[in-house]
Amino acid sequence: MNIQEFFSDIIESMPSALITIDSDLIIKQINFNALRISNLEKNAVLNKSVLSAFPMLQNYETELRVALAQHATVMLDRVEYVNEELNNYYKVTCYPLTAIENLIVVQIDDITQREQLEQRVLQTEKMHSMDGLAAGIAHEVNNPLSAIINGIQNIKRRVEPDRQANVEAAEETDVDLEKLNAYLALREIKFFLDSIEEGAFRASNIVSNMLKFSKPDTYTHEACDINLLLEQSLKFALKDYELQNVPHFENIDIELVLEKDLPLVSVLPLELQQVFVNLFRNAEQAITSRATSAQEEAPFRGKITLETKMHNDELIITVADNGCGMSEEVVRKVFDPYFSTRHKSGGHGLGLSTVYRIVKSLLGGEIEVRSAVNVGTQFIITLRP
Ligand SMILES: Nc1ncnc2c1ncn2[C@@H]1O[C@H](COP(=O)(O)OP(=O)(O)OP(=O)(O)O)[C@@H](O)[C@H]1O
Ligand SMILES: [Mg+2]
Repeated sequence: MNIQEFFSDIIESMPSALITIDSDLIIKQINFNALRISNLEKNAVLNKSVLSAFPMLQNYETELRVALAQHATVMLDRVEYVNEELNNYYKVTCYPLTAIENLIVVQIDDITQREQLEQRVLQTEKMHSMDGLAAGIAHEVNNPLSAIINGIQNIKRRVEPDRQANVEAAEETDVDLEKLNAYLALREIKFFLDSIEEGAFRASNIVSNMLKFSKPDTYTHEACDINLLLEQSLKFALKDYELQNVPHFENIDIELVLEKDLPLVSVLPLELQQVFVNLFRNAEQAITSRATSAQEEAPFRGKITLETKMHNDELIITVADNGCGMSEEVVRKVFDPYFSTRHKSGGHGLGLSTVYRIVKSLLGGEIEVRSAVNVGTQFIITLRP
């Protein structure tokens, strides 16, 4: 092997993509990994513009020209590029050659996996801090609530005319208990006391549910047919829409692509239904938003696709829509509690954070989102049977 072959082999074997470009941003040399990223043949890229062969660099022409003009190293730590509806991330370093002027090397490293992992860790952390916060609030609210419930029950007991202690205290103070009770009824004071008690009980139920959420092991799982659960949830959501008189759902096609003979999966059926219904609602809202947006000229027909399939011993459930889709920035925040782009139309931003919590904390699964503006959105849930 001669020295040229030796150096060429080193460059070809590098895990990074390496592209040498001239002052007109024309590709002069390219290694194997760069071709792999560009998905093109060598002949199709050599002597062509680096911006057309590597569309992820299109927004960074200025930076490439700076590296060339100033003979300087330029680093781009996080270049984002959406390809086939997938978000890819790259680290790009442009550095000048020491001996040859007017040429720079562009090194591209695919950091998509690392980015996805970081985003997932960040999301889990956010959720854990929310869980902690919710559990803390629930715990603190429990004490005053108990005081309210006990207080009301005591008041009601202490005016009952047939209790010995009440009779004695009434005699001592010269009060007619029957008349007192008639007065309380006439002025609806008993009704108000009952309402306060009922409200406090309801609040107490909410609080104990919040506490349960932070302790997933208090739930009982059941082996379920996921296809059946999906279909039931769909019926449930449609009924919901009927009741609310939502007009747009009639204009949406619903396609079910359900794999037969799926294994039963141990889940919390009510909670999983809650997940599906939330995803359907969001899909319908996204379709309605696209259908009514000014950009849609031709008549637009919405479609929601529900798919189940086994893949590598995992059950994959996909809820896809062809609605308005989301920008990169929205996708990043989509599972955050209270994040909503629909505050004006009554959104609270709690649907997907609940979905996330149920899938991750309660069912031990994964949830992923893929979206492109005015193309549509897919939510992909992975569960282990
Ligand atoms: N299928 C989808 N297509 C496009 N955008 C979506 C979709 N699902 C969610 N989103 C975006 O994510 C945001 C958060 O969703 P989430 O369900 O958590 O809250 P919401 O729907 O706004 O309010 P809530 O569900 O509490 O009523 C939405 O406001 C919307 O911008
Ligand atoms: Mg929602």
